[in-house]
Amino acid sequence: MIKKEITSIIQSRKSVYPNEFNGEIIRNEDIIQLLENANHAPSHKMTQPWRFKIFYQNSKKKLLKEIIKVNQFSEIKKNNLEKRFEKTSHIISICMKKNVEILPEWEEIAATAMAVQNIWISCVESNIGGYWSTPSYTKKLRKFLALEKNEICLGFFYLGIHQSDKQKKLRDSVNNKIQWFN
Ligand SMILES: Cc1cc2nc3c(=O)[nH]c(=O)nc-3n(C[C@H](O)[C@H](O)[C@H](O)COP(=O)(O)O)c2cc1C
Repeated sequence: MIKKEITSIIQSRKSVYPNEFNGEIIRNEDIIQLLENANHAPSHKMTQPWRFKIFYQNSKKKLLKEIIKVNQFSEIKKNNLEKRFEKTSHIISICMKKNVEILPEWEEIAATAMAVQNIWISCVESNIGGYWSTPSYTKKLRKFLALEKNEICLGFFYLGIHQSDKQKKLRDSVNNKIQWFN
């Protein structure tokens, strides 16, 4: 029997965007707990490919500066990004260490995405919210993120404090996505 509690938690997970954050700072122990939970994701051959680079306070400012430096943003886009950073408490760069000798890349990406899902569902029923942003400019940040040759960045997870009670987005019926084979 599937527990009602786990169904409720999974189905309550949602993206919370920086415009809904109130600018308050998440406690470091909560960040560590989120990443501990991420670390419980499964991975083929137990490669545990997820890597997290945490930006907050001063390092968050440095990240913003670097993103602006490597992009040619319009004034409006730059201002929007600045506002987004201002409201965000922590930004986690979602990185992945490839093990190409033993596994196809997609398996490592899948495992890392499962780690991200653990972060996301851990936020349910708390005042911590977040969303996964995957801008194309991550490729231009390799040096800044101190990525090694066999590492890639899969985007940023923005985290902040919120009181949003916005409804989550509805899904199409799962019946349209499943096929039973008898
Ligand atoms: C791999 C991945 C990449 C995403 N990248 C972005 C992004 O770049 N920008 C964005 O606004 N949302 C991004 N999202 C969030 C999705 O838009 C969001 O999950 C989707 O709209 C469903 O909303 P929900 O998370 O509230 O259920 C991403 C989600 C995933 C899983």
